[in-house]
Amino acid sequence: MSVKETVLETLSSNRGTYISGEELSASLGVSRAAVWKAINALREEGFNIEAVTNKGYRLSAERQSITEESFRYALPQEYRRSSGRSFCKSFVYDSLDSTNLEAKRLLLDGKASSGCVVIANRQTAGRGRLGRSFFSPESGLYLSIIIKPDFDISKSVLVTVAAAAAVAKSIEEVCSQDARIKWVNDIYIDSSKVCGILTEAMTDFESGQIDNLVIGIGVNTSLEGFPEELKKTAGAVDLDRAASLGNVPGKTNAISLLASRITCYTLAYTAQIGKASPEFLDIYRNKSLVLGREIKVFKGAYRSDPNSELGGVAAKALGIDDDGGLQVIYTSGERETLTTGEVTIRL
Ligand code: BTN
Repeated sequence: MSVKETVLETLSSNRGTYISGEELSASLGVSRAAVWKAINALREEGFNIEAVTNKGYRLSAERQSITEESFRYALPQEYRRSSGRSFCKSFVYDSLDSTNLEAKRLLLDGKASSGCVVIANRQTAGRGRLGRSFFSPESGLYLSIIIKPDFDISKSVLVTVAAAAAVAKSIEEVCSQDARIKWVNDIYIDSSKVCGILTEAMTDFESGQIDNLVIGIGVNTSLEGFPEELKKTAGAVDLDRAASLGNVPGKTNAISLLASRITCYTLAYTAQIGKASPEFLDIYRNKSLVLGREIKVFKGAYRSDPNSELGGVAAKALGIDDDGGLQVIYTSGERETLTTGEVTIRL
């Protein structure tokens, strides 16, 4: 076995416990530098290895999963009880093709309605925006929240804005990490994307009206097993931090607590749409990653390929209007308010 493999084996069999660099080098019979090199190589492969001065190294604690019980315990009383003011019915699965697809199936079968949440510990056909797939291994958090809009459909961009504010606030509360929102609905920690949101509409066949919206939210909680290409841009929230800071009450776990907060805030914030001065817009603006920064705007044929060097127009992000539009000024001096669906941006 190589030094790297032996270090991994030692850390795995002591998961969650710190082992000092000195101990590792003595038990493996290699130098401290060789241990350090092995740790770095493992991190590059996506293993979540923490290093703390005077304690040593540890591989993050066991993968957490969500059960019906762990989710329920994490909910505040008024969402937990069927007699509660804001009762939230949950459907928790170990594996699904896609929580968005399941939410739509449950809606069609009349088993789910507005205020319900569908959760899976992994997805086999996770859906992303612009027809892309969303990599959804066992380590992540995947959920879809159903809401019935009681606001004008011209305001529906605000659903995604409200959900993004809900996710950023939940990550901050549960994991004590500074999550930022890249317009319109990607959540970043440092410069890596940790969450994506896909909102889909269910239309009534006869009236052509939007009946329900399904807000799909995917959060990475580890990069273990991620393809190299994705690791370049993806990041993960730190659930171990949530537990070590004492943010997680007994009877539940950090991932369930995060799922619960995201669900409750999303339901609360989407209910503010159409009301005067909604709280979520302030949160969204305060947590924006783009405001005041130079960006590239991609439209038309270039919209789905913001990694291309072609087609991007330089602009500065000035503000976010009350409908969630991004106000920009181009280098020509021309101003525009961008609405989602037409454009993508790159920092
Ligand atoms: C994106 O960044 O492209 C949006 C990704 C949205 C992924 C979530 S995971 C839960 C829900 N179910 C899906 O199939 N997709 C969304």
